[in-house]
Amino acid sequence: MARDADKLNARFAAGDAVWFEERLGGCVANLRMADYSAVVALQGAQVLSFFPRGSGEVLWLSPVARLGAGKAVRGGIPVCWPWFGPHPHEASKPAHGFVRARNWSVAEVASDGDEARIALAFEDFDEALWPHKAALQLEVILGETLRVALTTLNTGVAPFSLTQALHTYLRVGDIAHVRVEGLEGSHYIDQLQAGRVCESSRPIVIDAEVDRIYQDTADRVCVHDGAEGRVIEITTTGSRSTVVWNPWIEKSARLGDMGEDGYRRMVCVETANAGRDVITLEPGAHHTLSLDIRALVGDRR
Ligand code: BG6
Repeated sequence: MARDADKLNARFAAGDAVWFEERLGGCVANLRMADYSAVVALQGAQVLSFFPRGSGEVLWLSPVARLGAGKAVRGGIPVCWPWFGPHPHEASKPAHGFVRARNWSVAEVASDGDEARIALAFEDFDEALWPHKAALQLEVILGETLRVALTTLNTGVAPFSLTQALHTYLRVGDIAHVRVEGLEGSHYIDQLQAGRVCESSRPIVIDAEVDRIYQDTADRVCVHDGAEGRVIEITTTGSRSTVVWNPWIEKSARLGDMGEDGYRRMVCVETANAGRDVITLEPGAHHTLSLDIRALVGDRR
């Protein structure tokens, strides 16, 4: 019997720009354009890698990452939808929604010489988890930046509300030499202080567990990585909240899939609609949450 990757290659592959293979125990799409490549798992529509040749890997991925294990892989860009964090009223429902551990289907693959593109659709809706009707699509476009766009369309007859995130795990050289800029002056909900609202006028440095939902954020955040000599820039649309998370030592031990010293090599900067930033969609309305990531090295920093 043909494997999933063989079937998808027969139907969709776009030459050298997009092809499918079995990797990490599941099926992934490889995108390649000149000096840039990316890997996207069909499980969770989760980007696992963005590799610009000039700067090296941008995303952090757990060393024990396995697809098909019934839970989301830690690392890359998990899609949290249709709720961010715990379910607002029902503690038994999975954290960060239900689409990150399930398979998505391939809707479209394209390449035009400058960009490689894949669109994935989520169809595995479960009334018991979420009693609404929607069409959900995640588009990944690889050019000189990596663009990820998550579009929700209300296909039902009643409005619904959602929170969500593109939960980006950035790879850094050493967390001790990292500075996150662009969120100074925004209030944040401190998830480590029972949701207390705080503010800081300084760039963020991380030397302990951090779990913050920044509110009313601008559309650009930069992660200065002194050890790697690069800046990772994230620009966004459709988002007015940004989550900054690092589990540090004790929580990493509890999570069990961070790898040894993983917390020193990553920081999550999550493009979100979370906290007060709730999206409500009327029937027929849609919303797109998107990010563009690029790594700047040398004079471009
Ligand atoms: C972050 C949350 O977005 O995700 C944290 O702010 C949470 O509170 C983290 O611990 C990881 O969540 P999970 O479900 O992937 O372990």
